[in-house]
Amino acid sequence: YYLGWAGPARRAYSSGVALQLPQGYARAGEVVVCGMGGSGAAGDYLAALSARYGGLPVYVVKSAEPPAWVRGSLVYAVSFSGNTRETLSCASRAYRLGGLVVAVTTGGRLASWARSVGAPVALVEEAPAPRAGWPQLFYTLLGSLKAAGLIQVPESHVEESLQLLGERERAEAEAGELVAWLRESRGRLAVLAPEPYYPVAVRAVSELAENAKTSAVAMQVPEAGHNLLEALARDGDSRLLLIDPGEEPWSTLLHEFAGLARPASIHVARLQGGSPLSRMVWGTWLAGLASVRLALEEGLEPEPVKTIKAFRRVVE
Ligand code: F6R
Repeated sequence: YYLGWAGPARRAYSSGVALQLPQGYARAGEVVVCGMGGSGAAGDYLAALSARYGGLPVYVVKSAEPPAWVRGSLVYAVSFSGNTRETLSCASRAYRLGGLVVAVTTGGRLASWARSVGAPVALVEEAPAPRAGWPQLFYTLLGSLKAAGLIQVPESHVEESLQLLGERERAEAEAGELVAWLRESRGRLAVLAPEPYYPVAVRAVSELAENAKTSAVAMQVPEAGHNLLEALARDGDSRLLLIDPGEEPWSTLLHEFAGLARPASIHVARLQGGSPLSRMVWGTWLAGLASVRLALEEGLEPEPVKTIKAFRRVVE
């Protein structure tokens, strides 16, 4: 499924652009994204992209509590299943406080609730798991924000990112190299990205956890150079996956950090693509592919997440 991301990504972008938002939504002063796990991740990317390219500030909520200032904000309630308790509560509270809510989902209770209050619903395509549906969620939001003129990502960058998802052989080869390193190296795994690409590191850690049941921590530079580095350097036995966008000053900072951290092993994932958007998409794709492949090579089933299901029952 991950290998075929180009199709759902392109369809989601078109449907996001075509989404009719009620009058007044485009006058919002900020964007709030409510969503958990694979669904909330779409919000992290938009926040980073709007900071980088320009656009409304994007605030991401990963709980049931919308911000107190939500009145008049454009609120995307994103839940792949449509049945995530925190997202349902965040959406209905935001609505009651005067937020301009849009539901982004495959259906479920979120779609029914949104229809019952007359909020727009962007229906996204099914996928084997919410996390595998990242292109649906992310590109629907991007298309919708772009069509409303609320984010300044150039169309050529969107198109290039979609084209990049056609490079399956290259992606598979790079994922294979990453998996070989993950399997042969030892030590605590940290995924390190420069600040504008931090959502990629967070996503990689989540994909490794959910698909490959493998733990890692996400770190960002320069921030981790002001705190976590001290512990890494003392331990001396970590392994570092560097998410390297090939951009300055970020690449130099990453490599300087890695040198001071004295890890047992380093792997550099050099992000392909001619724009920040494309590089983020490439890193996300690579992490998804590698996490599934790692699971399969280790004899694990990538799809079931029974402990997450148990937690979801607690929250219900
Ligand atoms: C499970 C997964 C999770 C979910 C999260 C929220 O495959 O990826 O991270 O995304 O539990 O569920 P949804 O996305 O359905 O709102």
